[in-house]
Order: sequence, then C-alpha cells, then structure tokens
Amino acid sequence: MKILGIESTCDETSVGIVEDGSIILASVTASSADLQEKYGGVVPEVAAREQVKVMIPVIREALEQAFAPQVDAIAAAYGPGLIGSLLIGVETSKALSLAWNKPLIGINHLIGHIYSNWLESNSKPEFPLLALVVSGGHTDLVLMADHGKYKLLGSTLDDAAGEAFDKVAKHLGLSYPGGPEIERVALHYAPFDHSRGKQGKPSVDRNLANFKFPRPMISSEDFDFSFSGLKTAVVNYINQLSDVRSQISVIAYEFQEAVVDVLTRKTITAAKKFSVKSIVVGGGVAANSLLRRRMLDVGEINKIKVYFPSVEFSVDNGAMIAAAAFHNFKKVSAQEFIADPSLHF
Ligand code: KG4
Ligand code: ZN
Repeated sequence: MKILGIESTCDETSVGIVEDGSIILASVTASSADLQEKYGGVVPEVAAREQVKVMIPVIREALEQAFAPQVDAIAAAYGPGLIGSLLIGVETSKALSLAWNKPLIGINHLIGHIYSNWLESNSKPEFPLLALVVSGGHTDLVLMADHGKYKLLGSTLDDAAGEAFDKVAKHLGLSYPGGPEIERVALHYAPFDHSRGKQGKPSVDRNLANFKFPRPMISSEDFDFSFSGLKTAVVNYINQLSDVRSQISVIAYEFQEAVVDVLTRKTITAAKKFSVKSIVVGGGVAANSLLRRRMLDVGEINKIKVYFPSVEFSVDNGAMIAAAAFHNFKKVSAQEFIADPSLHF
C-alpha cells in the first residue's frame, strides 16, 4: 500500500510517499529555514505564506519522484503545530482525498516522529517499546505496548530540549536552528573522543571548562523533564563573561553534555522500569550525534536495542507521517478532519 504523507506543522513543507510503512518511494522537502534565520526563529505568518506557495509543487515533485500516478491513501499531520501551517497541510489532504477518492488519515505529528524509526530499516523495533520524542516544541517519553497503543510517561514541564538548544544558540550568537550549530561548535572543544578512544584536538584552552551546568530533574522519581533552568544557568554564565567569543565552543560543549546526560539517564531508567524490548528516538534533536552515541552505548550495556532514524528523517518530514498512517490506519471524513495546534498524546 502506497501512502502519501504531508507534514506542514512548522516551517517545513514536506511530502513523502511510502510503501507498506517502510519503503520510501519519494521524499521532498521545502523549508523556509533560510528565511526564518533572518528573524532568528520561526515567524508563523512567514512560514504559512511560504507553505501556500510550495505545497502543490512539492506534492507534484514527490509523485514524479515515486513514478506513482496513484497512491492508495492520503495522510496529513494535524497537530501539534502552528495553526496557519497546519491548515495548509490538512486542507490540501482533504482536497486530494476528495479529488482522488482515496481514504484520509490524520496523524499526530509526535507519533509521526516515533514512526520515522520504521522507515528504511531492515530490523523493526519490537514491542513493548519506549519512545523518546525530542523536538523543537516537545520532550516526551511514551510507552507503546503495540502499534496504536500510547501511554505518556512524562513530558517537559517548561522548555523542550530543542527549544533550549535554539535559545542557548541565540545567546551565543549562533544561527537558527540552534541544535546543529551547537553541535558544530562543540566539536571544536574535544577533551576526549570516546568513539575513537583518543584525545580530540581542542581549539580553545581546555582549562576553561572548570564549570558544569546543572542537570535538572535527572534523579527525580518521575519521567518529566525541565530545561528552562539549564538554559537560564547557561545564559547567566554567558552574561557575566567579558568575552563570550573565546568560550563559545566550551559553553556549547558543556550545555550539550548536560542535555544529553538528562535525556539518556531518564530514558534508560524508564526503559528498565517498564522492561521494554526497544527504545526508539525521534524528533529534530535525535539528529544530535552525542545523543545518538550515548543512547546506543547505554542500550548496549543494558541489552536494549536502540533505534534512531537517519538524520534526514529525524527532522520534520512527510515520509514519517505516511509510515505512521500505515500502522495506525484509521480513516477520517473530510468534515471531521480539523487542525489541532495543541494536540498531545
Ligand atoms: O522535529 P523538528 O524538526 O521540528 C519540531 O517538531 O519542532 O525539531 C526541530 C528541533 C530544533 O529545535 C533544532 O534546533 C533541533 O531540533 N535540532 C537539533 C539538531 N538538529 C536539529 N538539536 C540538537 N542537535 C542537532 N543536531
Ligand atoms: Zn517535529
């Protein structure tokens, strides 16, 4: 079964055509990130205006890429996200479903991120599993007994992990989105490269790292997160410096260590408590190589298989929406299908 998935919850317009929830026949993404960079973040009106322009060309290109004159169903992410952006994806999916007389499926964007782990991989995650969704707007731990069975264990009480990356990057004078930028500059500060088992080449004085940032809620009994205090600690540290530029990479490095420490520790604690067979990670922050390395390491130590999507499918994409629709095939009528900006699990 070929499903066309539409993702337009934030600043991306992405369409994927996926066969049987796994094989990617097409994946086309248009992003207004360059435009948003000018403003240092996503301006909803700017995002939506771009999406209106590119939605149909992106769909057309995806159909051409897949050599698919026909698909079997249409899926769209209907929340959470920006209302203007969501409306464009949802209304377009209704029009396609009516015009082609094909079933329509509504997908929660966060569930889409989980299903990016079913794309293209030979081995599929086994249930019960624990999903860590780390994106620009969400940080959630979700227990899944099977396809379609989601139990939210915990969420961030304030900033999302990706949001903290974006805000700290902004204070360091780095561009938007901040996650990849923090990762890039942190690489210049390499006290010890565990993956290679040797000392890295620091470009700044290593003695500068005589500080550590806090790891909020790392040992709390629950599975909630909090990143706002960490962000404030970093901003306060930056504000008392006379010359930030010489310390950008060490601050980025220590901040990244703190976020990854919390995410890894809480995820593995939950995975052990609920005796899951696999852990899947999704959302833009899943692209982070330190998080990938640390999660894979703790998974191996605890004999729990850890899955990450490829970097391309960690960030927002239409293919994950199509994959989620295949495994959660619930038809919705065009009248019932409405965008929901504050949708949760
Ligand atoms: O899932 P996503 O593409 O969009 C949302 O649903 O929000 O996630 C975007 C978030 C941004 O906050 C971005 O800074 C973060 O993912 N991100 C990263 C990396 N790549 C993207 N964070 C850390 N390291 C990365 N390499
Ligand atoms: Zn996302």
